[in-house]
Amino acid sequence: MFVLGIESTAHTFGIGIVDTEGKVLADVKSVYSPDEGGIHPREAAEHHQEACLLILKKAINQAGISLRQLCAVAFSQGPGLPPALRIGAIMARGLAYSLEIPLLGVNHCVAHVEQARYFSKAEHPLVVYLSGGNTQLTTLEGKRYRIFGETLDIALGNMLDMFGRAAKLAHPGGPKIEKLARQADGTYLPLPYTVKGMDLSFSGLLTASKRLLKEGAALSTVCYSLQETAFAMVTEVVERALAHTQRAEILLTGGVAANKRLREMLRIVAKGQSARFASVPPKFAGDNGAMIAYTGLLLYRDKIETPIPASKVLPKWRLDQVDIPWQ
Ligand code: ATP
Ligand code: FE2
Repeated sequence: MFVLGIESTAHTFGIGIVDTEGKVLADVKSVYSPDEGGIHPREAAEHHQEACLLILKKAINQAGISLRQLCAVAFSQGPGLPPALRIGAIMARGLAYSLEIPLLGVNHCVAHVEQARYFSKAEHPLVVYLSGGNTQLTTLEGKRYRIFGETLDIALGNMLDMFGRAAKLAHPGGPKIEKLARQADGTYLPLPYTVKGMDLSFSGLLTASKRLLKEGAALSTVCYSLQETAFAMVTEVVERALAHTQRAEILLTGGVAANKRLREMLRIVAKGQSARFASVPPKFAGDNGAMIAYTGLLLYRDKIETPIPASKVLPKWRLDQVDIPWQ
């Protein structure tokens, strides 16, 4: 028996398949990349609609199973862009209905965390979730995640992508900025560093970085300074949160978790407080169907199904609104 998971919250249409132990048997995706500007919700949905059947076929082939062997179908119910979310939801409903198996609505943020826990075997970590839409520090308290640090304006990944666009780098900017920063000569140009309590703000940093570019600073130097500043801000709040919560593990997840420099900085913080640094494997840092399939499996084990009439997409569904009975 296998669980199939569909991811379609934003840029990625992905399908993953896991067995009942959680092992990933298939992980296939197609990523929409805008020619210019940010993600256009309707264009993303069109991309997903065109890609979805081929991705399904590839995933089934990769897993070497037939659709009849599925015991449940999971999908990203939110948060995300409504038109994009709907494509995954429609496909999931169709599969669940025709195969007469349970439908499972998964929270995308919970899936990033659960997949990272699965691979790293982290038990009760301080979760650092950094992506295009989220910048959150959170721990599980009882049955709910409690968020005690987040961005006051734009998410870290979004800030990197917006800077990338200003620098004429193709979307997404994050990986390109990382590469350019590595090629820099180590000159650091001072930039706004904004930490308020446990919260962060990245908009001033973005504006100032774009200004440096306009004034003629070398792109690699600005990328380096931008990364060092933004990641130092994250590191500061993580360090304090770790001391405050007394957790023995940091768990880094979300698209930005693929960044080597960020991982290095958080590893140093963890070491300084005798905590373990754990993270999602870089291959699974970005959005993927396998994380939805795995979290679907957890829901399936606890018999938390989503009947079709209750499967409307939830574009603003937050991490701290989800009950987590399985931990
Ligand atoms: P969420 O709903 O979780 O916010 P998302 O739509 O942001 O999802 P993810 O795939 O989780 O999607 O994250 C994408 C983000 O990760 C983008 O902003 C991208 O620039 C960033 N990113 C990817 N690789 C790197 C990297 N190596 N360094 C920095 N940022 C990266
Ligand atoms: Fe994501």
